[in-house]
Amino acid sequence: MNVTAAPAPTAFASVDLLVLTVVDPPRPLTGPAPRADRLLEGVISRAIGDEEITGKSGEVTLFHTPPSPGSADTSPRRVAVVGVGDGSDHLDWRAAGEAAAKAAGKLKAETVTLAAAPSHGPVELGAFVDGFGTGAYRFVKFKSDADERPEVQLTIAGGAAAPADLEHAALTVDAVNRARDLANSPANHMTPLDLADHAMSLAADIDGLECEILEEPELEKLGAGALLSVARGSELPARMIVLRYEPSTVAREGEMLGIVGKAVTFDTGGISIKPSGGMEEMKLDMAGGAAALEGAALIARLGLPIRMVCAVPSAENMPSGTATKPGDVVTAMNGKTIEVINTDAEGRLIMADALAWLTTQGATRLINFATLTGAIVVALGEVYAGLFGSDDEWLEDVRRAGDASGDLSWPMPLHERYRPLIESGVADLANAAKKRQAGAVYAGMFLKEFTGELPWCHVDIAGTGMIDGKGTGFGVRLLLALGQQLSLGK
Ligand code: BES
Ligand code: MN
Ligand code: ZN
Repeated sequence: MNVTAAPAPTAFASVDLLVLTVVDPPRPLTGPAPRADRLLEGVISRAIGDEEITGKSGEVTLFHTPPSPGSADTSPRRVAVVGVGDGSDHLDWRAAGEAAAKAAGKLKAETVTLAAAPSHGPVELGAFVDGFGTGAYRFVKFKSDADERPEVQLTIAGGAAAPADLEHAALTVDAVNRARDLANSPANHMTPLDLADHAMSLAADIDGLECEILEEPELEKLGAGALLSVARGSELPARMIVLRYEPSTVAREGEMLGIVGKAVTFDTGGISIKPSGGMEEMKLDMAGGAAALEGAALIARLGLPIRMVCAVPSAENMPSGTATKPGDVVTAMNGKTIEVINTDAEGRLIMADALAWLTTQGATRLINFATLTGAIVVALGEVYAGLFGSDDEWLEDVRRAGDASGDLSWPMPLHERYRPLIESGVADLANAAKKRQAGAVYAGMFLKEFTGELPWCHVDIAGTGMIDGKGTGFGVRLLLALGQQLSLGK
């Protein structure tokens, strides 16, 4: 997205929309606000006095400015007053940015300026930019009659954020929105091959980031029988998409972050086919992979001093004459045999090989994102992702990064006493339990079998990564926050 920093007085130049912020409860107007109030002949202070403007996070009140005397119009055409709550929570600033973007979109504004005050620092203004850029997101690639909206030019006038802080927020916006695009793209436009091409283009663009695509012959050689078994029903081949990042300096010697994301480009369920109602949403079953790739690329683009390897297993889960059948036994890369009880539990199969592979690639800790189970949607809805882990400290690090970034995740249990759920009468493990209980835990217990001795966290984003049939980009900001924590040795 386009954002520039400008000196405070430029806020009142001719723009389509000038944005002002107010806190809840409103305080006497300071900074740029009194001037805007004068421009509007006192209606802002009157609206505050009448409690029509409360400062509540995400509240927007729009005003037209009176025509300026003379011919040259040098004042903003409209003023939006947006609430930022008590002003201390960056998520309220993000909500304010989102609200401003929605208003700007409706008005078809091309130029928007936030009149910031000296007390507004990089955290507040970065969050506003984040909200503005992600709030303006639309997925209209396939609409032939979508109204053409030029990219909005956002200016932050005044405030105490450096241009680099705003640029950082703008790059985050681009990464989150690209992850949404990847997930939202219909499965006939976003195959494992298309996703691999996307990863290649990310790497081509970013210093120190390398991309490698493992194709089927290579996957056969590696023994990735679980991943390959999922692709068997499709005309499309499986891929393991790999990004590696080697920064020029590293914060923690000997550490390498391993990231995995599930990228099932369409999940019909396979032979254990899903009901047809709502099945179209399963084009989003690659949201974890999209977040992993975009989050990893963002960490690299910002040059964070952490070594990283990211593996995204990708396949299409289809029924056909060549598809894996219930009862088939496949062998994962770490040698464990799996009885495929339910071909719709395919996510854990492709993730198994990716996790096992990362244990051989020098990763010292692992995190994965996956739209893995309907059960986590029942348990936690669209607010918290499910967080599972094999190491308390690492789990707490991830939880904290989630809280800081707004990508919330809630700790869920793993315990040996759940172990009978993943046992098979025929093979080492079964991919689906005979008992209908603890479905999200069961999937976590299964993944853990492939993580060796490494500290590992699994983030089940089935509820948070896709909401109302749309990708959210959940995980990108969490990964960035985690990368920042690791960079600071925190
Ligand atoms: N991709 C689905 C999980 C899912 C469901 C994501 C709803 C988003 C919304 C996954 O592959 C799946 O089908 N899981 C099954 C597992 C079961 C067969 C053990 C599920 O959760 O029902
Ligand atoms: Mn499935
Ligand atoms: Zn799935």
